[in-house]
Amino acid sequence: MPILNTTIGAPHAAILGIGGFRPSRVIPNADVVEAIDSSDEWIQQRSGIKQRRWATPEETVQVMSVGAARKALERSGMDAQQIDVVVVATVTHLLQTPAIATAIAHELGTDKAAAFDISAACAGFCHGVSLAADMVRAGSAGHVLVIGVERLSDLTDVSDRGTAFIFADGAGAAVVGPSQTPGIGPVVWGSDGEKFDLIRQREDWRDVIAADEPATPHLVMQGNPVFRWASFAMAKVGQEALDRAGLSVDDLDCFVPHQANMRIIDAMARSMKLPSTVRIARDIAEQGNTSAASIPLALERMIEDGEAKSGDTALFVAFGAGLAYAAQVVIVP
Ligand code: UT7
Repeated sequence: MPILNTTIGAPHAAILGIGGFRPSRVIPNADVVEAIDSSDEWIQQRSGIKQRRWATPEETVQVMSVGAARKALERSGMDAQQIDVVVVATVTHLLQTPAIATAIAHELGTDKAAAFDISAACAGFCHGVSLAADMVRAGSAGHVLVIGVERLSDLTDVSDRGTAFIFADGAGAAVVGPSQTPGIGPVVWGSDGEKFDLIRQREDWRDVIAADEPATPHLVMQGNPVFRWASFAMAKVGQEALDRAGLSVDDLDCFVPHQANMRIIDAMARSMKLPSTVRIARDIAEQGNTSAASIPLALERMIEDGEAKSGDTALFVAFGAGLAYAAQVVIVP
């Protein structure tokens, strides 16, 4: 039997640059409350959200992704032609095939980069970062562009009390490449498919097609069970990611959890006993819940605000529909 050649990758992988795209329509709570019989006060108290951003018709999944990716490339000092793989995490590219990653790779001007989408909802970006780190270390790619992007407003029922005030649009991107020192810790990831129905597209596409009246399918969520699950189980996942990286909460500079609800963020921080010196991402107040885009957008804001600096140790914890989750420690680029 012949012995096959195989690849040997870089000793370590790291995030080299982060970029975000925040769509232009700023929607304050006042603009969503009437349709759901709610109030600015209730929304702020229960979720911490003050406003969210929704995309204009021109701010497509592709446009937002390319905007975020160009910033990430520039900040990492990379040219699009140096990107070997483009991974796009999204649940709101509304064309079954081909993957939007291929169009994004083409528009960016990569040199025939491998390009594919992944569906892991709000945990998608962290899944992508883990895949990218593995590719770089295994030698199947030199540099990988990971994008988390959503236009949740397309699938949000503005009269649904459980979701209309939460979901938002945006894109975040990271360039992952080789590093002399470890920049991305071991991933802790998993799923609990028993809870498949807690956050989902309400109508199966086949039912939409068969319906007499054309209607947009909507995302629905049983918020309270997800809230309890996330507040309880995700702190453990975050702690495990720290353990697997060989660190403790005292080594942490920044906590960048999925921006789902300010109360979940606080509950996780309390449960993990994060020291008061750890800076916590709270982008949700201004941005809403952008699913796969929320962690890169939140980290970008912390870097821009001077709350996170190059070389800091940050913990990502992401969770959402599936229910799927993923967490890892990273070094801030
Ligand atoms: O990104 C993917 C992961 N997603 C998440 O992690 C989201 C997790 N869930 C949540 O963030 C929260 O469950 C929500 C913010 C969605 C809701 O907060 P909650 O504290 O779980 O509220 P609830 O559903 O238990 O409802 C509490 C009360 C109810 O009234 P009663 O029965 O106490 O009289 C609801 O009828 O609030 C009422 N209510 C509302 N009131 C005003 C529910 N929705 C609304 C609303 N406005 N939009």
